[in-house]
Amino acid sequence: MTMKVKFVEPAKVYRMIKDELDAAYFEVMDKGDLIDRGQLKSFETNLAAFVGTKYAVGLNSGYDALHMSLRAAGIGAGDEVIVPAHTFVATASAVVNVGAKPVLVDVGKDFNIDCRKIEEALTDQTRAIIPVHLSGYMADMERVIEIAEKHDLVVVEDACQSLGSSMEGKMAGSWGLTGCWSFYPFKILGGYGDGGAITTNNPEVALFATRMRYNGEDRDTGEYHGHGFTCLLDNMQAAFLDVKLRHLPRWIIRRKEIAARYRAALSDLPDLLLPHYHDSRRDHVYQNYTVRSKQGNVFSEFMKAGGIEVLTQFRKPYYRHEALKLEDRGFPETEALSREVCSLPMNVEITDDEVDYVIEVVRSFYNK
Ligand SMILES: Cc1ncc(COP(=O)(O)O)c(C=O)c1O
Repeated sequence: MTMKVKFVEPAKVYRMIKDELDAAYFEVMDKGDLIDRGQLKSFETNLAAFVGTKYAVGLNSGYDALHMSLRAAGIGAGDEVIVPAHTFVATASAVVNVGAKPVLVDVGKDFNIDCRKIEEALTDQTRAIIPVHLSGYMADMERVIEIAEKHDLVVVEDACQSLGSSMEGKMAGSWGLTGCWSFYPFKILGGYGDGGAITTNNPEVALFATRMRYNGEDRDTGEYHGHGFTCLLDNMQAAFLDVKLRHLPRWIIRRKEIAARYRAALSDLPDLLLPHYHDSRRDHVYQNYTVRSKQGNVFSEFMKAGGIEVLTQFRKPYYRHEALKLEDRGFPETEALSREVCSLPMNVEITDDEVDYVIEVVRSFYNK
């Protein structure tokens, strides 16, 4: 029997927690609380507590979080910043847009920056590293911090895909000068439009971001503290996110159950590499369940023909887009995985029957 399995179904999530989301909506509308009100503060407090940092500052997007962090660290023209070759383009764009140069480093088998290759990419101009925690699994932050301390570099964590993940019990987004978050609708914690935040333990960085997100203004005194931006997290989005954050621990458990179901049913297929890594220090929260199929597009097209929505980010690595003018220093692992990646449906709204159908289609591709 053919079924249709969506990659995500936002309307289904809405129905799962409709009463709470509706209550949040009506509270905002009734009070007329639109900009920088209690709902934003509440979400910031709860996000900081969840991540284990002193501060969280709500922004308009994950991109803004990265951009703001680099500004807060004083990074600009003449500086170089280490970023992974396999990530969403925004990681590198934030570096370019503060006037600095992204220097790309290949990733390892876990899709995260290969720490063995960072030091060879450092120059006298290197000022920062942006490790990306991809798909719900952290980069090796112990090693990143070691390298950063040795070379006096700022660390900005791109944790946009990994809210809730940890290493040695210390949460993603609590290791660097800042942790950068995206609440784009299909993230592990997604809003109903764009949204983002930084988390930090540094009071000056938190104050800088709080002012700069509002055109540089101190909202108590009216004083402008610099030329800033308009990138404040909407109060309405904050209200929705606060509701969903309460469900996140339970939803992470569900994601792990789905991952375990895929693993139990698919790990015997030699041409399919599953995203389960052997590092007991790191906890995977499976924002994405990205497999590597040796058959690349033939596999992903077969899944689509079977009624299953899959994502193949990123078949074309971002440094291969000519207009971005980025230096390709040679990234064999990124090149290889780009041909093979395929993210299977992984979300809290999927049913076990749907997961089993995905498994059936994968197995039928391999004639099993
Ligand atoms: C790794 C990574 N970095 C940065 C971003 C940018 O976040 P946003 O789309 O909220 O600007 C995203 C998400 O899209 C992401 O996945």
